[in-house]
Amino acid sequence: MRIAVYPGSFDPVTNGHIDILNKTSKLFDKIIVAVVHNVTKTALFSLEERSRMIIESTRHLDNIEVECFNGLLADFVTGKDACAIIRGLRTVNDFEYEMHMAWYNKIFVPDVETIFVISNSNNIFVSSSGVKEAALLGGDVSSLVPPVVKKGLEHKLSKL
Ligand code: COA
Repeated sequence: MRIAVYPGSFDPVTNGHIDILNKTSKLFDKIIVAVVHNVTKTALFSLEERSRMIIESTRHLDNIEVECFNGLLADFVTGKDACAIIRGLRTVNDFEYEMHMAWYNKIFVPDVETIFVISNSNNIFVSSSGVKEAALLGGDVSSLVPPVVKKGLEHKLSKL
């Protein structure tokens, strides 16, 4: 079975992430979306809330699983017996950071390939923090995120 891991903070998941999953779900038997607690970022949504929104937004795909993890990505990938790590590339700005990450992961799990997938042009400037900021300032983010995320943002921001 060909298993791939798609890691990220997903705080929250956006249409950009869903685009990458739509494309790669055809290439692998199973994709595990790994929702990571990124210590360098302050999260708006809990890991459980982020996971629930991903599950809801990927109901149209039958080979997606969602898990949370803390720690080294290489260890998670090894534990899942995955053959690939999926990363999306939006603009050339993503490239150097992604090369750096892929290099580290190759050292820790040499048998696992990082697969880079090019984002659709309508998603290249979408980011989770951009969406959060726009929503906070009253912008309509419905073309940028799945409906469940739009609802989640409205609910979360109404409490701030
Ligand atoms: N479409 C739209 N947005 C996208 C996107 C796409 N295809 N791909 C990435 N983004 C956005 C994300 O939403 C994120 O936005 P934000 O910065 O506003 O939150 C931003 O681009 C950066 O994404 P990414 O590089 O995936 O960062 P991340 O924090 O989501 O994930 C990890 C980084 C979790 C994968 C990485 O830190 C990791 O592997 N951590 C585990 C520890 C480890 O093993 N480190 C490696 C050793 S070097």
